[in-house]
Amino acid sequence: MNVKQLRIGILGLGAMGRALAGALLDAGHEVTVWNRTPGRADDLLARGAREAPGVAATIAAADLTIVCLLNDASVRTTLEPVAQDLAGRTLVNLTSGSAAQARELAGWLAGHGARSLAGGIMAVPPTIGTVGAFILYSGPRDLFDRLAPALAPLGRPQWAGEDPGFAALYDMAALSGMYGMSAGADHAVALVHAEGGDVAAFKREVLRPWMEQMLPFMTAGAEVTEVVSEDYNPEMQATGLETMLTASDAAGVPTELSGHLRASLWRMRRTA
Ligand SMILES: NC(=O)c1ccc[n+]([C@@H]2O[C@H](COP(=O)([O-])OP(=O)(O)OC[C@H]3O[C@@H](n4cnc5c(N)ncnc54)[C@H](OP(=O)(O)O)[C@@H]3O)[C@@H](O)[C@H]2O)c1
Repeated sequence: MNVKQLRIGILGLGAMGRALAGALLDAGHEVTVWNRTPGRADDLLARGAREAPGVAATIAAADLTIVCLLNDASVRTTLEPVAQDLAGRTLVNLTSGSAAQARELAGWLAGHGARSLAGGIMAVPPTIGTVGAFILYSGPRDLFDRLAPALAPLGRPQWAGEDPGFAALYDMAALSGMYGMSAGADHAVALVHAEGGDVAAFKREVLRPWMEQMLPFMTAGAEVTEVVSEDYNPEMQATGLETMLTASDAAGVPTELSGHLRASLWRMRRTA
């Protein structure tokens, strides 16, 4: 198999599936696409993709089939009717899901004679194929080593382990970090807006540099943890959070989210 130029099938032409297909076409792969609802492939066809009449035909036409659907249930609905066509095939599932779902799917695919990797996309459609994009993969290491050059145009391939659930596990955990960060940023902006501050200037000159300064502490490696633990003062942190909640209450900004932090933050810190 020449992985520099593979025949790649894509099941799912949502925003992400189309971005994946486009990046693979740009890299010179032969791309065959399928989507449940017809009519979503036109721009890709104009760029050289082929459209298959169904799921089995997509898999049959490909050295490697990438699955990128809404969720685990849609993957099952799509693949189960073609179970008898999976023997000897190679699939990479880039649909978001839980670690348990990824493990079950990998087992089910193996049971039908297919080799597979499970993935977690650490990018959004416009950043697919750009420098910062990376994709987590877990499953058989030899398969990852073989496919990584072909998958690299989507984003840097990053190994997450032999356990097929690990890519999903790290993906979901990283999403929690993202949602927490964005919810905090939304709250910050609401507070500034409620008090008549300059939101654009606040975002640019305060929020972003502040969050960038804090990021290494949130994702601390051993060296940062040492620095933090010397100066870490739980009472000061608790008081600071309380002060922020009081200011938010006074400005009429909802504090449900941050209020929950008050209860759970310290419990998590103690067990981290
Ligand atoms: N977009 C992002 O920023 C992003 C980032 C990282 C990871 N992801 C993950 O990538 C995956 C796809 O995301 P997306 O942004 O492409 O979502 P999307 O735009 O909502 O597209 C969903 C895709 O799933 C298909 N689908 C839904 N239910 C189906 C079913 N029961 N049977 C067959 N096909 C079904 C849809 O087909 P129809 O056109 O027929 O509805 C469509 O192709 C998700 O798991 C998502 O979590 C997305």
